[in-house]
Amino acid sequence: MSGRLRFGVIGAGRIGPVHAENLAFRVPQAELAVIADLRPEAAQAVAARCNIPRMVSTGEEVLADPGIDAIVLCSPTDTHADLIVAAAKAGKHIFCEKPISLSLKEIDRALAAVEAAGVKLQVGFNRRFDSNFLRVRQAVASGEIGTPNLFHIVSRDPFPPPLSYLRPSGGIFLDMMVHDFDMACFLMGEEVEEVYAAGAVMVDPGFAAEEDFDTAVVMLRFKSGAIGTVDNSRKSTFGYDQRVEILGSKGKIATENRYPNQVVVSGEKCVYSDLPFNFFMQRYTDSFAAEVQAFTESVLEDKPVAVTGTESRLPVVMALAAGKSSQERRPVRLSEIHA
Ligand SMILES: NC(=O)c1ccc[n+]([C@@H]2O[C@H](COP(=O)([O-])OP(=O)(O)OC[C@H]3O[C@@H](n4cnc5c(N)ncnc54)[C@H](O)[C@@H]3O)[C@@H](O)[C@H]2O)c1
Repeated sequence: MSGRLRFGVIGAGRIGPVHAENLAFRVPQAELAVIADLRPEAAQAVAARCNIPRMVSTGEEVLADPGIDAIVLCSPTDTHADLIVAAAKAGKHIFCEKPISLSLKEIDRALAAVEAAGVKLQVGFNRRFDSNFLRVRQAVASGEIGTPNLFHIVSRDPFPPPLSYLRPSGGIFLDMMVHDFDMACFLMGEEVEEVYAAGAVMVDPGFAAEEDFDTAVVMLRFKSGAIGTVDNSRKSTFGYDQRVEILGSKGKIATENRYPNQVVVSGEKCVYSDLPFNFFMQRYTDSFAAEVQAFTESVLEDKPVAVTGTESRLPVVMALAAGKSSQERRPVRLSEIHA
């Protein structure tokens, strides 16, 4: 495909504007032609900010536009599978926010439609594009720290979402830890075969009424025998807490939080710095731009996408296994989870 790729963004809530701004201002090979949202005021605000010439209400209207080559799907998770199937039938390439669905059956239905249509699909596991995590991956892949034995991810949000968000999101394992499950497999370069999860309600008792946890730890057992943990909390008072450490046979590699500045203040009683970036939009800004840039290049240059639909399915399996494990209070093998 030559020239610029003509995009439509579907969904102008939290993440839609992030992708719209990147397509409009940071990806030279992209042209953002249309934005859709059921709420006209949301679409209008993004259209004005990003100079988008056309605004519509539904994803279907974007798919009916023969001038659109690719869509960026930022509507709620429960709309993804139907829109992917329709987009594939319309011959549009698809960038879909994570996860494709909370249901493995729905994911498989969407992937089958993509396969049948021969269009490209990339899923929004943006953390794979973060420069710190890429360096960690490189250290593991190159053998720089030897054989990885022990793995830790700390991933904590600054504040919890509204309680109304929880149930449709699928809960802490499917909504939040799914990112960390993807990172675990990506950074270690291998799959997990068993998880052992514990969850608690420590931040807001309202989580219990929604049958969700606000605090969770999952132990991972990788196929190589290596083990690791992921710890999530919905509340970290000092900002977005995103750290990784891997211990290998020849050393360790670790990443710390990212900060808006590098200043250290030394006083009479203590030495301190400002708080880390507050949330994902600031912390992962560069990775959001890099993932849509990579997707655009994959389509224009007919190269494989960086995060395939099949790869994106595994973290959902891990999340479902973690949910089962926390309920049954026992380790759960991924082979126990079926579509
Ligand atoms: N990669 C990340 O870090 C990240 C961060 C946030 C959200 N997400 C994912 O992005 C998706 C959207 O999340 P969000 O937080 O932006 O949700 P949101 O609720 O803030 O926004 C969704 C928007 O889609 C609109 N919408 C719903 N159905 C539509 C349809 N059929 N056609 C057009 N518009 C429609 C809604 O009106 C709303 O404005 C979810 O799948 C979520 O998991 C990913």
